[in-house]
Amino acid sequence: MFEQQPESLREKIQSLAAESVRQGDPSGWFETLYAQAEGDSARVPWAKNLTHPYFQDWLERYAPQGKGKSALVIGCGLGDDAEALAQHGFQVTAFDISPTAIAWCQQRFPDSSVNYLVADLFTLDPR
Ligand SMILES: C[S@@+](CC[C@H](N)C(=O)[O-])C[C@H]1O[C@@H](n2cnc3c(N)ncnc32)[C@H](O)[C@@H]1O
Repeated sequence: MFEQQPESLREKIQSLAAESVRQGDPSGWFETLYAQAEGDSARVPWAKNLTHPYFQDWLERYAPQGKGKSALVIGCGLGDDAEALAQHGFQVTAFDISPTAIAWCQQRFPDSSVNYLVADLFTLDPR
């Protein structure tokens, strides 16, 4: 995931992750990273402001028809994959553990049909 990142960013992420683990909250560093990015996606190593290229290839190859179907995006980050599914007609729910990431999605896509939620995959409401 971080192969092409500048060393400084890689070190920062390793340090944030190590600190989260020390504090007994191994996933906590995601929120810290998004919050510290202060709205600059260049400071979020995986954020490209584009649909993930592998997913984009898949969408182009199979051209799924989403009308009448639902889709769930787990760990949606800044929302590009969720938006791509919505463009294909799916009723999309997208969630991320980071409140800052979800607020960022809602700011980027104010007219989106995607239902963006803050949620932790490992402590999901059973409903
Ligand atoms: C490597 S990023 C990928 C983000 C996005 N899918 C993309 O391709 O740009 C992983 C994402 O998963 C989220 N995440 C990590 N652990 C999570 C969990 N337990 N529940 C929900 N989201 C989680 C992070 O906040 C982060 O946005």
